[in-house]
Amino acid sequence: MKIRIWIATILLTLSCASSFALDSVPKPEYHQRRAALAEKLHGGIAVLFAAEESVLDFMPYRQDSDFYYLSGWNEPGAAIVILPAVDAAPETPGTALGGRAAQPYREILFLPTRNPRTEKYTGPKMDAATPGVAATTGFDEVLPMTELPAVLNKIAQADRNRIRDVWTEKDSPQAKALLGFTAATLGLSDLESAGDVSQPIMTLRAFKSPAEVELIRKATDASIAAQLAGMRTIMPGVRERTVAGVEIAKMMQEGCERPSYAPIVGSGPNSTTLHYSDNSRIMKSGDTVVIDEAGEYSMYASDITRTMPVSGHFTARQREIYNLVLGAQRAAAAAFVAGKSTINDPQHKRPDSLDTIAFNYINEHGKDLHGQPLGQYMVHGIGHLVGIDVHDPWEYSRPLDKGMVFTIEPGLYLPEENIGVRIEDVFYVGPDGKLIDLVEKLPHEATDIEAAMKK
Ligand code: GLY
Ligand code: MN
Ligand code: MN
Repeated sequence: MKIRIWIATILLTLSCASSFALDSVPKPEYHQRRAALAEKLHGGIAVLFAAEESVLDFMPYRQDSDFYYLSGWNEPGAAIVILPAVDAAPETPGTALGGRAAQPYREILFLPTRNPRTEKYTGPKMDAATPGVAATTGFDEVLPMTELPAVLNKIAQADRNRIRDVWTEKDSPQAKALLGFTAATLGLSDLESAGDVSQPIMTLRAFKSPAEVELIRKATDASIAAQLAGMRTIMPGVRERTVAGVEIAKMMQEGCERPSYAPIVGSGPNSTTLHYSDNSRIMKSGDTVVIDEAGEYSMYASDITRTMPVSGHFTARQREIYNLVLGAQRAAAAAFVAGKSTINDPQHKRPDSLDTIAFNYINEHGKDLHGQPLGQYMVHGIGHLVGIDVHDPWEYSRPLDKGMVFTIEPGLYLPEENIGVRIEDVFYVGPDGKLIDLVEKLPHEATDIEAAMKK
């Protein structure tokens, strides 16, 4: 009998490939993240829901980033409940709130029940009745989704205080419905979420483990290959979209599941529009072309921009602007100090901000056609954190530190001169606090860009 369960477990694990088609950080790491989140909840409970299936049939599914970070689970219809361990507490005198016994740490993955009909479309899935599901998912407990309200009710019965301390995702319709239902069944007038669970998760996600950095490195290496393939495709008469497509093909060939954002191939006037992604123009000799395109590898993003001359040779003025942007990127990277530097500062007042360093560099080194400093044309922030989201959440007043991954991406956009230049690399702050450029292998110097276009 045991052997039969064992074989069934192996077969199901293999056949439910859709959950495990991605490379993953080691499974225990997800458990550590859940335990680390529990430490940040002050005894409260976290409830998270998986991203819903796309309304349009046949659109690709992408898991909610926080949900994926905590679980590695890549299927819709699931939920997670995390209960930190709490000490025993006496009754609160003068209130209806009872005391409670000490409670251990618990974590539960709730899975929808398998549906043979939909599995004809989606392939086999796992549910809470699948043999070995806890070991396979790495969760201490796995229960059917239908049990979620009952579990919350039991928690409330054991500890009336606790149900008022539920952290959920802000604006989640499922969380609102669940809390409403729980309030009604407990005879409470209302239950608000005690906190936005994405806030404590943001801090955890900001500091990458070595396994996460490895996935970002894979996304970046595939994106470097894509950018090189794109560079070789650029020439007058080629449509921007052709280059975008060549890069998508290359990054997917290198193992990415999709681009990590809508590819931007902006030539001529389009090079001065920051997030132009129509990619419909035919490139002309004399244009600069900004290519901001990168892939996502096993749910981890990269984000890379290079700027090329469509003719294969920068004009003197294009080269001057290019060198200014490259100089600004290098100045910001050189000034970085782990634990002290911050990233964006729209007012350019903070001397510790990489944004301010790049802005000052550009103002000190270049002028527009009217003799005015060029800083006014650096119209977006210097960067952002990168991880499961291409723009991983972060509070930009907080310093950057060891383990973080972020972009440094100065740009100058001069519509009057029909010149746009952006250069964007992804950097990792190593354990010694030193900045490591994950995009080092891709050409930076203007002459090296020109040479790479010819290869
Ligand atoms: N690719 C989007 C950005 O650079 O932020
Ligand atoms: Mn970026
Ligand atoms: Mn970008």
